[in-house]
Amino acid sequence: MSPILVRPAARADAAAINEILNPYIAQSTATFLTEPRTLAQRLAWFDEHGGRHPVLVAVSDGAVVGFGALSVFRPRAAYASTAEISVYLRPEFHRRGIGRRLIGELQSRARALGHHALIGICCSETGASIALLEACGFRRVGQLREVGRKFGRWLDIVILQFLVDAPSVS
Ligand SMILES: CC(C)(COP(=O)(O)OP(=O)(O)OC[C@H]1O[C@@H](n2cnc3c(N)ncnc32)[C@H](O)[C@@H]1OP(=O)(O)O)[C@@H](O)C(=O)NCCC(=O)NCCS
Repeated sequence: MSPILVRPAARADAAAINEILNPYIAQSTATFLTEPRTLAQRLAWFDEHGGRHPVLVAVSDGAVVGFGALSVFRPRAAYASTAEISVYLRPEFHRRGIGRRLIGELQSRARALGHHALIGICCSETGASIALLEACGFRRVGQLREVGRKFGRWLDIVILQFLVDAPSVS
């Protein structure tokens, strides 16, 4: 098994990130996106990241096999020290500790960037993502019933939270 490198993502990784995410959009409830992302949309997503909202990729043998990000949780100013966390891996790279590494690195970066709270929002059907976040110290703080609709079904979300032991940024 090749070693996994975790590094900050570059715009050149946009197509690889879409190749990872688009099958989940088409086939699963892991994301509530319903239409495949285009390269232009992914590059716009990059423009919304950077600074206090890093994107990381996991690389094996030079190929991007997963990514994780801290994204704006809600745009209103008082939420500025809260970020939403997400991680997606190519299926053949599941259960090798890569998700745990990406989440751990994002937690470290969140601390260094002065974030106070991280939020994970998972479909209640996606047991792996809930289990991963709980394994990384997140706690379930709530569940919203039937707030998503995909594949003709109503879907619940589970909300998980991690409080970062960082000083607040004013
Ligand atoms: C969720 C996901 C990122 C997990 O990544 P991963 O690299 O497979 O997880 P890891 O190998 O690092 O597992 C770490 C811990 O998470 C938990 N876990 C991960 N996958 C699990 C599964 N399928 N079932 C139960 N527990 C699981 C376990 O506690 C595991 O520790 P262990 O291996 O010592 O038992 C991966 O399954 C994935 O890409 N899923 C589809 C996308 C998705 O749902 N993303 C989340 C949206 S925010």
